Amino acid sequence: MRFLVLGAAAGGGLPQWNCGCSNCQDARSGKIAPASQSSLAVSLDGRDWAVLNASPDIRAQMMACPSMHPRGLRDTPLASVLLTNGDIDHIAGLLSLREQTPFTMYATSEIHKVLEDNCVFDAVNAEKVSRERIEIGHGFEILPGLQARVFPVPGKVPLFMEGETVQTDLVGEQTVGVRLSDGQTVAYYVPGCADVTGELLKTLSDANHLFFDGTLWDDNEMIRSGTGVKSGKRMGHISIGGPDGSIARLAGLQADKTFIHINNTNPVWQPDGPERAFVHAQGWRVAADGMEIVT
Ligand code: MLT
Ligand code: MN
Ligand code: ZN
Repeated sequence: MRFLVLGAAAGGGLPQWNCGCSNCQDARSGKIAPASQSSLAVSLDGRDWAVLNASPDIRAQMMACPSMHPRGLRDTPLASVLLTNGDIDHIAGLLSLREQTPFTMYATSEIHKVLEDNCVFDAVNAEKVSRERIEIGHGFEILPGLQARVFPVPGKVPLFMEGETVQTDLVGEQTVGVRLSDGQTVAYYVPGCADVTGELLKTLSDANHLFFDGTLWDDNEMIRSGTGVKSGKRMGHISIGGPDGSIARLAGLQADKTFIHINNTNPVWQPDGPERAFVHAQGWRVAADGMEIVT
């Protein structure tokens, strides 16, 4: 399996248009590498690709990756798109894929419903782009020879659909992770996760590779930095650090582990910072745009 990180950052990207935090300033000045919004591409042969989540940055992401360029007059190596939730950072890129070239779009019924309820997505012609409903636990071929299966991950409804009260640990079809297998290697992609439950640990136990939600370093990061009013838990994201964080909870997992979907406020962006050193010492990698991982 070949993985290509199209976008390592969470919604907003690094830098985010309206953010003057130190990471965003460093990304603007070139001190640290900028990162675009959340998306991972996977391929078996390097020719045909499945894109896991379609970020608002997909046009620039595909331009930056020669393996994603058309091989003919109207063509794309992008064979399929899978959506793991209905958040803007994971669906808005579909609107940039509206120019009548066929691919297959995979999502659960609930995630399809988000698109159906927002008629701007009708611009993605359903006669060219088939909308396949996938069921929790049922395997399907996302690319020839590459088996996929989605599973529920604790999360919440998309931000723009939140009502007055929000359940942040919903387990159902609105937030999923995906298991990929080529018959030799097993990889998991979980870019949004509110909690590592015993059930999730069991699901991930056969992982050779894991790409996991690295949104925040700690739960109060956005409040403390003055960039927001919500905790990580309220946003539906487990933090990396701390006794209940993902590093601690996933410590027993013998897999190659990569943080992805990283918010611009996260200190782990700083390549020489203590958080990055800690993450590496714990056996994790921090994703970057354009990073390739071949299993
Ligand atoms: C998230 O991951 O929490 C969302 O992408 C938030 C958003 O849509 O801005
Ligand atoms: Mn997001
Ligand atoms: Zn920022």
